[in-house]
Amino acid sequence: EHDSTVSIVVVGASGDLAKKKIFPALFALYYEDCLPKHFTVFGYARSKMTDAELRDMVSRTLTCRIDKRENCSEKMEQFLKRCFYHSGQYDSEKNFAELDMKLRDHEGGRVSNRLFYLSIPPNIFIEVVRCTSNSASSANGWTRVIVEKPFGRDSESSAALTRDLKQYLMEDQIFRIDHYLGKELVENLSVLRFSNIIFGPLWSRQYIRNVQFIFSEDFGTEGRGGYFDNYGIIRDIMQNHLLQLLALFAMETPVSLDAEDVRNEKVKVLRSMKPLQLENVVVGQYKSQIKGGVTYPAYTDDKTVPEGSLTPTFAAAALFINNARWDGVPFLMKAGKALHSKMAEIRVQFRPVPGNLFNSIFGTDLDRATNELVIRVQPDEGIYLKINNKVPGLAMRLDQSNLNLHYAARYAKEIPDAYERLLLDAIEGERRLFIRSDELDAAWALFTPVLKELEEKKVMPELYPYGSRGPVGAHYLAARHNVQWGDIS
Ligand code: BG6
Repeated sequence: EHDSTVSIVVVGASGDLAKKKIFPALFALYYEDCLPKHFTVFGYARSKMTDAELRDMVSRTLTCRIDKRENCSEKMEQFLKRCFYHSGQYDSEKNFAELDMKLRDHEGGRVSNRLFYLSIPPNIFIEVVRCTSNSASSANGWTRVIVEKPFGRDSESSAALTRDLKQYLMEDQIFRIDHYLGKELVENLSVLRFSNIIFGPLWSRQYIRNVQFIFSEDFGTEGRGGYFDNYGIIRDIMQNHLLQLLALFAMETPVSLDAEDVRNEKVKVLRSMKPLQLENVVVGQYKSQIKGGVTYPAYTDDKTVPEGSLTPTFAAAALFINNARWDGVPFLMKAGKALHSKMAEIRVQFRPVPGNLFNSIFGTDLDRATNELVIRVQPDEGIYLKINNKVPGLAMRLDQSNLNLHYAARYAKEIPDAYERLLLDAIEGERRLFIRSDELDAAWALFTPVLKELEEKKVMPELYPYGSRGPVGAHYLAARHNVQWGDIS
């Protein structure tokens, strides 16, 4: 490996994702000595920029977790020296051939490995892949391509995209990112399940009453409305991020931790699910709200959003897995923008204890006496388990308390950004946290029929005020399945 080099080409280098996530993650990896000895970072985009200007842009956006550490500026200088820029059109093989020349120069005759990160809009995906494959792929090492969602907007368009990509790339060269898989607490989910004897036996319909996957953001689509309107919250968050959490939560034990073994189990559980039914979905859209003298805009106030848009910015859904382990257990999802908080968590509500000796003490409020396991993905990562205990004292009074693994209290070390883990995995050829094409197909199959129905029937989203807890419809949906949302009750 001494004689090989890795070139990381960020296509769409001046975009938001590149500035906010990709360059900072690369720098963090460099800071932690995780990048190979010989590496180069190339930005590629249409705008004219010199290497110095790219470095300047990168340095201004390195607002990553590292910047408070020792030697940061020194390391940053070293890192920036390895960053370069090439300006070119996205559909020009000639421009990519020029990039290829520059890359060869840097590789200096070593084995060349190339990682292209496509941080670009979906309508130019294929053009770029054609150009990189025909003009800039490695001659003697590996070539990998990281792609970001959207992977189409339904089963058909996603399958078409997969077909197009496969004209130029083998499946094992394609790294489809779902950045939720790079999050620390998501990576920990399998450790929690499979390395603790106390959870495995409870992990089924016998003891689990329902599972909730909740995502909320306390800001709207400000600035991204034009993009978002074409997709909506179901495609933006549920079909990918929340469904991935569900798959990891509900899959059977994989044969090993190998990428194929884990992804086989994820596909299996997704394929055991019924497509989401319209009656099991509630959609919402935020409206403006005046709070403390500040006016928060409605979704449709965004100039880039078409007038009268029905695109949901909130959705709640109930899904079911038809297998022996999960038959009849509601898997609820809730995702929304412009809500009262920014948070992502998994809540596992356990069944009541049969014939509970303490029922008379709990009185009528039996539901409050059940155990709940909460996995807080972000912010303020943690895992806690609600248990019943006696209130200290002479009387027999019961209470609920949390057994709490609070990461900030337990570990001094900062938690890496999801993109750091994923970029490192892509460089190392580890595919476990990337989405395989059959997995993507299975995910779309669950949501495509309902997405079409929502659009064809022009289902009106329930309006909710910016900064609120979302539409009440979500409560009725949960109630119909005998569920109370854990984040609200
Ligand atoms: C992206 C969505 O995939 O995830 C965005 O397109 C959303 O709409 C983002 O804001 C949330 O990611 P995170 O890591 O901030 O929870």
